[in-house]
Amino acid sequence: MTKPLPALSKLADRIAPENHHSDATRSPGDDAWAVHNRAIAKARAGESIIILSIGQEANETTPEPIVQQAVDRLQAGDHHYADVQGSPELLDAIARYHHRITGQRVSAEQCTAFCGAQNGLFAVAQAVLEPGCEVVLSEPYYTTYPACFTASGAQARRVALRAEDNYQLNVDRLLAAITPNTRAIVLNTPNNPMGECYAAADLSRIVQACRDRGVWLILDMVYAELVDPDQLALPHGFDGADDVVISVGSLSKSHRMTGWRAGWAVAPQRVADTLKDLSLCMHYGLPPFVMSAAAHALNNDTQTPKLIREALTQRRQLVNTHLANQSGINLIDSGQGMFVLLDVTQTGLSAKDFAMKLLDNTGVSVLPCDGFGAAGVNLIRMCLAVDSQDLVSACNAIAAFNLSLSA
Ligand SMILES: Cc1ncc(COP(=O)(O)O)c(C=O)c1O
Repeated sequence: MTKPLPALSKLADRIAPENHHSDATRSPGDDAWAVHNRAIAKARAGESIIILSIGQEANETTPEPIVQQAVDRLQAGDHHYADVQGSPELLDAIARYHHRITGQRVSAEQCTAFCGAQNGLFAVAQAVLEPGCEVVLSEPYYTTYPACFTASGAQARRVALRAEDNYQLNVDRLLAAITPNTRAIVLNTPNNPMGECYAAADLSRIVQACRDRGVWLILDMVYAELVDPDQLALPHGFDGADDVVISVGSLSKSHRMTGWRAGWAVAPQRVADTLKDLSLCMHYGLPPFVMSAAAHALNNDTQTPKLIREALTQRRQLVNTHLANQSGINLIDSGQGMFVLLDVTQTGLSAKDFAMKLLDNTGVSVLPCDGFGAAGVNLIRMCLAVDSQDLVSACNAIAAFNLSLSA
């Protein structure tokens, strides 16, 4: 008689269903990151690859004063367990930074430090979602969202952006997705992958609907500092926002700190209390020298986000010059954020096939957006955070590859 093996949790299936189904039905492209992973493997093998498939400034490092702060703390012996919710210095810095960016006054107790926004989003999901409830996602969404939010047992209700709306959020459709079971709406502004910054009037309606219907608005703000402050509308000032908005942010994109895992959540106090309890069981506090460097960045460095914004604007212009008038590929540029998109429907290739062939034929790695939800199946995401020279070479390679498809 065969003995039963111990079971995995249902969560294991919810966070990565493809890992638990028959491998025979999987093709290498099923993974959202397959093209990117292949590009990394090629680069490691010595091939010359231009990587536009991930959202980080891979050729840049964290500003020196921030690094020095961590080094100083390490050398001073700051090697021990730290405050689980975040060091007082960091929580204070987060509260002041949050006020500067959003206009919303919060106390340090409403802030919790997490290992990047990703960890913050996961913890927030655990704090407010559960089996039997629903979470509304605007699609395409950042690839980790479905797993991150449905790990809680909540069902995702996806509202797909449509070409006929110019791939902009249609608030009527978003709000129509609210049911009596809806517990949260998740928005990301500026959005990954589309780069859309939501309009103030739309955010006002969303906050009001959330307040009226007892729904959380979970706002992912990792790219917020990559937009000029006067062009970024945020929901925090609208009536009722203090009760329903939960904000998640990090230093990953604004200060070139992806590897530091320095992020946070800012939430109404009863959520923050639960987030503190979750921190205790999830990570037991961030490294103290990381928190010290993060506080330093938040308190002192307003220049780096500005420099990144200026560089992104210039590179966006380069892409427009090189790819705006290519027949067969349609450039979708919101004018904001870290990415532009190409709609490759007319090439006859799926985004996944286009990206894989582009990589193999030209050494340029872009990200097919099918991992961002079904609405992204014909879209390709290009990250602008590379040297201008590399970006121009990549654009030329994309244009030549596109031309070869119609030859
Ligand atoms: C929309 C969005 N949210 C969250 C994250 C995770 O950010 P962090 O590095 O702070 O965990 C990313 C990373 O690319 C992202 O694009």
